[in-house]
Amino acid sequence: MSQDNRVRIFDTTLRDGEQSPGATMTHAEKLEIAELLDEMGVDIIEAGFPIASEGDFRAVSEIARQAKNATICGLARANFKDIDRCWEAVRHARSPRIHTFIGTSPLHRAIPNLDQDQMAERIHDTVTHARNLCGNVQWSPMDATRTEWDYLKRVVEIAIKAGATTINIPDTVGYTAPNESAELIRRLIAEVPGADEVIFATHCHNDLGMATANSLAAVEGGARQIECTINGLGERAGNTALEEVVMALKVRHDIMPFTTGIDTTKIMNISRRVATVSGFAVQFNKAIVGKNAFAHESGIHQDGMLKNAETFEIMRPADVGLGETSLVMGKHSGRAALRAKLKDLGFDLADNQLNDVFVRFKDLADRKKEVYDEDLVALVRQNEGAE
Ligand code: KIV
Ligand code: ZN
Repeated sequence: MSQDNRVRIFDTTLRDGEQSPGATMTHAEKLEIAELLDEMGVDIIEAGFPIASEGDFRAVSEIARQAKNATICGLARANFKDIDRCWEAVRHARSPRIHTFIGTSPLHRAIPNLDQDQMAERIHDTVTHARNLCGNVQWSPMDATRTEWDYLKRVVEIAIKAGATTINIPDTVGYTAPNESAELIRRLIAEVPGADEVIFATHCHNDLGMATANSLAAVEGGARQIECTINGLGERAGNTALEEVVMALKVRHDIMPFTTGIDTTKIMNISRRVATVSGFAVQFNKAIVGKNAFAHESGIHQDGMLKNAETFEIMRPADVGLGETSLVMGKHSGRAALRAKLKDLGFDLADNQLNDVFVRFKDLADRKKEVYDEDLVALVRQNEGAE
């Protein structure tokens, strides 16, 4: 089942993303973000952790009622109370999913003080319980990438036999590397009985800056669901960024022949909304959605861009919902960019006039980080006055 080329996008901005300290969103904001996710073609929206609070329960229930296309998922720990509460919230959805998890690595097993057999039994019982409520059950061994191989294999098999339909392999602390990420999924699919009956998912954190690479590697290994958040929002260094994996699969389809259902032209708008409502500004040089991701200042780059945009851009701004490339006027800009910019502003200058304005522009750019359109208009007017 996991070998088709369609990668499901599972967005957890409203659950793992919102767990980021300080990123709390209001009820209305969560509903708005869920609607945007649904409209952009996200396959599964993890809308919250229903047992965590009344507010989370209400948000998941309403998102479940409002969703038009996406499967709506809620998170539950490995106990009946969490799972029942989760089901209460998601069951209103056209397509509901229960996502239940337990930490399986030695460090995580020590917390509830369960030995391997006791934990295996808990996994069997809770997944069975979830599956009796809902036909769509996702199970995650938290900290999978630091779980002993034999034990991981054993518990994944138990979860599949108990009825899980998606097996998610979380790199909870962002510890894995791309080759390991691919190999782990590949081996699980090859060695766990029943693995070909379920979808394998990858859920990466970005502690070492490898979340996107690890997620894509997992897809190479056979995963067909990527868990991610808008802008990479999430605890510590965040989760895999949705916009990065989706655009990587689109731009490098030649070497990664997988498709998603995402309308990429909706990326920029949702990125801005998530930044605003979470209060987490996007860094300027963030891939895909940063302010500078499609901006060029240096003369060589601007000149190249004016001749052929593909010289320095591997995707078109319109592909992610941005109007156009921005040529930022600063001290590194050249004459060709200045001429193009002035033309946009309605000034078609003769060569000698352009030369004069260029000298004034360089002088100003040395004193000012960015020269705005109004500055350029003022320079042209000064020059006209001096002639
Ligand atoms: O990072 C993680 O392990 C999680 C699980 C709850 C899936 O977010
Ligand atoms: Zn996580």
